[in-house]
Amino acid sequence: MTLGDLVLTGDQEGEIKKLMKAIEHREYLADIGLREIGKILFVGPPGTGKTTVSRALAHELSLPFVEVKLSMITSQYLGETAKNVEKTFEVAKRLSPCILFIDEFDSVAKTRRSDEHAALKRAVNTLLKSIDDISLIRDEVILIGATNHPDQLDAAAWRRFDEIVNFPRPDEAMRADILRIITERMEIAEFDPVEVAELTQGLTGSDLRMVLREAVLEALAEERTALTQQDIVNAVEEFEERDNLKNMNMMDDSDQMIAGDGGDSHGHTHQH
Ligand SMILES: Nc1ncnc2c1ncn2[C@@H]1O[C@H](COP(=O)(O)OP(=O)(O)OP(=O)(O)O)[C@@H](O)[C@H]1O
Ligand SMILES: [Mg+2]
Repeated sequence: MTLGDLVLTGDQEGEIKKLMKAIEHREYLADIGLREIGKILFVGPPGTGKTTVSRALAHELSLPFVEVKLSMITSQYLGETAKNVEKTFEVAKRLSPCILFIDEFDSVAKTRRSDEHAALKRAVNTLLKSIDDISLIRDEVILIGATNHPDQLDAAAWRRFDEIVNFPRPDEAMRADILRIITERMEIAEFDPVEVAELTQGLTGSDLRMVLREAVLEALAEERTALTQQDIVNAVEEFEERDNLKNMNMMDDSDQMIAGDGGDSHGHTHQH
């Protein structure tokens, strides 16, 4: 996906533009002594476009994209974790100019509890030091961190980013725009993205994509490649049922878990 395929808030657009200008004018910035730039943290719930925006940015700037999930380089041997962090930053420096994208940033840089192991603190300190040691101006590496849990992020890690960009769940107008983009190449009779946007409060861009995929597959099951607005409305309902399943506690013995027992035809009223 390119930046043009993404629906961004004004704030996100502004920050991305600033970052692109900073990269373009990095020599000027170095000349006037502004070195603390090029470290940016994306904060927001899953599916709001943090990874996609970062990739699109790399594409737009024709830069290599180095992506790591911090949880994947976290070893049960904490000495290894520190080494992996160092290696990651070395790779980025070698590939520079590039974008280094560190996902699940909170998984290491968690607010440290006093009872935690000294080795874990060393791993976190290695990460913090690596962030300090990397620079857009000197190394031509842009660092983008992403987190779903800003509350769990260590204050020292938070301080190291010069820009924080919020990735909120899209509002109604944004959802309608995202729906228009997702459906651009689909044939949908009586398509009304505004109505679908009204029905999908709280859903993310990624959720909307899943809804449309479901609608397409349901239609295909009926040998149709042309969709209708109703197909999409049905898919929204199905998505919500799926979401309810996710939130259900599998260990409680409520009767909603029993197959075939769902109808009121048994003369048995359920209260969900
Ligand atoms: N603002 C948006 N505009 C258009 N599409 C979006 C938007 N947000 C999300 N999407 C769609 O959802 C997909 C998933 O988004 P992405 O993986 O970038 O989310 P994320 O914020 O990185 O989530 P996670 O925190 O789970 O890693 C994207 O590929 C895109 O298709
Ligand atoms: Mg992501």
